[in-house]
Amino acid sequence: MLYNLLRPLLFQLDAETAHTLTLDTLSLLQKTGLLPGHTIHCTPVHVMGLDFPNPVGLAAGLDKNGAHINALTRLGFGFLEVGTVTPRPQSGNPRPRLFRIPQAEAIINRMGFNNAGVDKLLENVQQADYPGILGINIGKNADTPLQNAADDYLIGLRKVYPYASYVTVNISSPNTKQLRQLQNETQLEQLLGALKTEQTRLSDQHGRYTPLAIKIAPDLEPDQIAAIASLLLKHKMDAVIATNTTTARDGLEHLPYGNEQGGLSGAPLTERSTAVIHRLAAHLQHAIPIIGAGGIMSPADAQAKMEAGADLVQIYSGLIYRGPNLVSETASLLCAD
Ligand SMILES: Cc1cc2nc3c(=O)[nH]c(=O)nc-3n(C[C@H](O)[C@H](O)[C@H](O)COP(=O)(O)O)c2cc1C
Repeated sequence: MLYNLLRPLLFQLDAETAHTLTLDTLSLLQKTGLLPGHTIHCTPVHVMGLDFPNPVGLAAGLDKNGAHINALTRLGFGFLEVGTVTPRPQSGNPRPRLFRIPQAEAIINRMGFNNAGVDKLLENVQQADYPGILGINIGKNADTPLQNAADDYLIGLRKVYPYASYVTVNISSPNTKQLRQLQNETQLEQLLGALKTEQTRLSDQHGRYTPLAIKIAPDLEPDQIAAIASLLLKHKMDAVIATNTTTARDGLEHLPYGNEQGGLSGAPLTERSTAVIHRLAAHLQHAIPIIGAGGIMSPADAQAKMEAGADLVQIYSGLIYRGPNLVSETASLLCAD
């Protein structure tokens, strides 16, 4: 209700300014005790060896530095994913780099992993002292050559391992040059092998197993999805997140900002990402859980992802267009099943 009043005002502002203002305001309200919490009654969902209080999570990229954890958890999420974070801080692409396309309930972003670096994120995570499920999403710095990408992921994994409930390996952002090439069979084989070896070593070192999730793009051909699925099985990954944003622009070309470079999210992505989940599920046969993301703009969209084979879901763009009530409404529907 309140969001319906605020949305037209926020939509008058440049998208990135509105984003920062909204998150800062939420955090201020939370710190002063003025942010009401949502209580959602749900039987916990057991995925990746973790008990999720409800299956609706926050997708990566909204809180890149983990600076708003205590405010975001009040919205009723069953889990939060922060990041993408890189080993070293970086400023990302020049602004403007975030565009709303309200006619299509879509967003195009080419943020380029703007973040304060993994050390700052961990400082924020420790300060938040949040007892819930926290995914930390890791990536590579823009100036790290692709052939050294594994080094960046290993640095990130070692640092976040003791603080994360699970770690997401982001190889699917369209805004870091060549990053998506890591989804190719040869490169992925090497990367997953290196990550699994390190995860095993870290698990011994810390006496605690932190699951690894791989986040993939919605722009993969069926044979690429099949190849990725068999590598995930071979290397015993703990989950797959499907999907990131798309480079497709079907039907948006004529709209203002419709041809901006970057990754498209929101309503135009719904079907495409659900189709990827469907294909993945057929290959994985429940051996590896799927976290569904992409164009969840209503509780029914989330249910369609569960029916396609997702075990959990994540939301980003739906929050911008439908407001925070989308979280509790979606959780209520999924928990009723
Ligand atoms: C502004 C913006 C920034 C994003 N940044 C990240 C990111 O840093 N890492 C990541 O894995 N995904 C990122 N994403 C992708 C989302 O996590 C999600 O996978 C995608 O937007 C599809 O979901 P949606 O349609 O609900 O937004 C970003 C999305 C948006 C809109």
